[in-house]
Amino acid sequence: MRSFLKPLWAAALLFPLQAAMAQTPVYLDDSKPIEDRVEDALSRMTLEEKVALCHAQSKFSSAGVPRLGLPENWMTDGPHGIRPEVAWDEWVQAGWTNDSCMAFPALTCLAATWNPDMSLRYGRAIGEEARYRNKNVLLGPGVNIYRTPLNGRNFEYMGEDPYLASEMVVPYIQGVQSCGVAACVKHFALNNQEYDRFGVDVEVSDRALYEIYLPAFKAAVQRGEAWAIMGSYNLYRGQHCCHNQRLLNDILRGEWGFDGVVVSDWGGVHNTREAAYNGLDMEFGTGTDGLSVSASDAYNHYFLARPFLEQIKAGVIPESVVDGKVRNILRMMFRTTMNPNRPYGSFEDPAHGEAARQIAEEGIVLLQNRDNTLPIRLEKTRKILVVGENAIKMMTVGGGSSSLKAQYEISPLDGLRARVGSAAEVVYARGYVGNIDGSYNGVVSKVDLSESRSADELLAEAVALARESDYVIFVGGLNKNSHQDCEGGDRYDYGLPYNQDRLIEALAEINPRTVVVLVSGNSVAMPWADRVGAIVEGWYCGSEAGHALAAVLVGDVNPSGKLPFTMCTRLEDYHAHALNDSLVYPGVNHREVYKDDIFVGYRWSDKQKKNHRPLFCFGHGLSYTTFEYGKAVLDRKQMTEADSLRVCVSVKNTGSRAGAEVVQLYVSDLKSSLPRPIKELKGFRKVMLQPGESREVEFVLDRTSLSYFDDAKHAWVAEPGRFEVLIGASAEDIRSRVGFELK
Ligand code: BGC
Repeated sequence: MRSFLKPLWAAALLFPLQAAMAQTPVYLDDSKPIEDRVEDALSRMTLEEKVALCHAQSKFSSAGVPRLGLPENWMTDGPHGIRPEVAWDEWVQAGWTNDSCMAFPALTCLAATWNPDMSLRYGRAIGEEARYRNKNVLLGPGVNIYRTPLNGRNFEYMGEDPYLASEMVVPYIQGVQSCGVAACVKHFALNNQEYDRFGVDVEVSDRALYEIYLPAFKAAVQRGEAWAIMGSYNLYRGQHCCHNQRLLNDILRGEWGFDGVVVSDWGGVHNTREAAYNGLDMEFGTGTDGLSVSASDAYNHYFLARPFLEQIKAGVIPESVVDGKVRNILRMMFRTTMNPNRPYGSFEDPAHGEAARQIAEEGIVLLQNRDNTLPIRLEKTRKILVVGENAIKMMTVGGGSSSLKAQYEISPLDGLRARVGSAAEVVYARGYVGNIDGSYNGVVSKVDLSESRSADELLAEAVALARESDYVIFVGGLNKNSHQDCEGGDRYDYGLPYNQDRLIEALAEINPRTVVVLVSGNSVAMPWADRVGAIVEGWYCGSEAGHALAAVLVGDVNPSGKLPFTMCTRLEDYHAHALNDSLVYPGVNHREVYKDDIFVGYRWSDKQKKNHRPLFCFGHGLSYTTFEYGKAVLDRKQMTEADSLRVCVSVKNTGSRAGAEVVQLYVSDLKSSLPRPIKELKGFRKVMLQPGESREVEFVLDRTSLSYFDDAKHAWVAEPGRFEVLIGASAEDIRSRVGFELK
């Protein structure tokens, strides 16, 4: 081209582009601040379009605004993997062949790592899977506090301690959201049991609410900056939590400044007026199967659909009410689907399997190890007997909404066989029959668990094999069937189901090297604890479960998990049960009173006499090496409310294997005007140490570490006086104490 023509060509090319840019609406211009884009999009929407954003259009999606190029919102469970696709309006499989996900360990296991880096990794990996599957909202993580071991959903949560749950939930959210997917923290709030979950009205003191049940949600919102939150099914102060004035308007939005979306739990909305005014933005799962209510427009029957539209049109509800909801929803869309820079995500990625395995390896807890039963010494082993249904049962299927269609799941038996190889013989005996059903919403487990032999025959076979084996690895516990670790119901009792105790006792009598591996998300009674060699809490570990467990059992991995909840000997040793009052648990006539107040978990067991102390306390977990703690040192003996205090302690690996220790810091208020727990967790660090290596661990305390919530003042109060810092390897294994004064 002749050079003098160039500028003309360039101008002709650029002009339409410039003109188009000048016309780009603000809401589509990602160089503009999100709030400007939100207002611009809102101003272009009709009332019908606004209302359509506020309720579902299918089981897991809500409408966008096609006319404006605003896409639909797609949700997915959560929180342990990306749920397989169900039909548009039915709880059956959609029949996709490309929706088998990576299954990550249950959140109890994640919490048991006590490692926020693992939580970030978890969040990133599951966020990538959600993003790849074109979901912009992940329904998780869950942070309801472990109040009773009977709660069928504890496995989806992060344990009994508000500080631990707060520290662990924040990185998960950050990881998910770095993928352009909103984390939807659930279930807000006070959803601490499954029994009567749709009807129970919880009464709780403000003190317990603010100190125990809310902190992890607050951290999720303020530090994690979660873009969404899910209301719970239950009621609080007579109002359902999905449209609860106090929880959603006063606390979540008012006190915490939440600017994201409040999503209802599926079927958690009960009337239009409260749904309109009390903080809810999006209604999902309200009872319609699309057939019995109306075949053609089922979703228009939702409380926030036609009834809402009609009341706005009639002037009963002002349009500003729907505008407020739409602002929140648009803001979430600009953060997710409308963010042109969000990554593409990935699915069935081996890196996700690697993350799942490492999280599991760090979360598995060695509860007991008499005479160094573990690790298995393969060089001296001829035969290993694996006993128990949970050694072969698929645990990624079942449990309720967190059920998955996993790309693969390595069972404990397969994992151990793969690791042991030809080094020893691994034989299997069923031992007991639990629940042979392995299906959920049309996903069917590939393992056939049918068994025709009697309980006595199974026991006799296992005992005979145990006699001739070097090790017995019993893999039992609970499962994901109803009234075990499963949504929709609580456990009926604290004991192990299916007569497992009898079998464990028989095995232990024959073979002292009996190892009990509990696959569960809850504590169970262990009447045989002092007769077995080792006890391992193996959790539900997802796709890589068997590999991770085998690595711990043979010692490739030195266990470093610590309990995120207290394991009591008896059910009555938990405060909610100690009171022996149905009003306290499980409630009477839909009314439940949390008389256990702030004394939940170790906050209760710390105050009990010796014979009511936990079997395995909060923060407990053994290692194949040993750690020695130095003396805790403070940088000063006095602090004021305005400043902070540094605490240093050295930890040394005094054994012969590399290993990680979780150094825990508890604060004790020696004298206070309100009753306080004997101590509370206010810091922890996981440190990896080579044999002989030692490290200085540092913590910083400030007034928040010393405060309690004063109901009367409705404020956090750090009361002047004497405090003590306790450094320990668990809540009961305190290695060093040092005092200071708050001026
Ligand atoms: C559960 C939620 C879940 C939702 C969607 C409800 O039954 O309580 O946790 O996210 O279903 O599956």
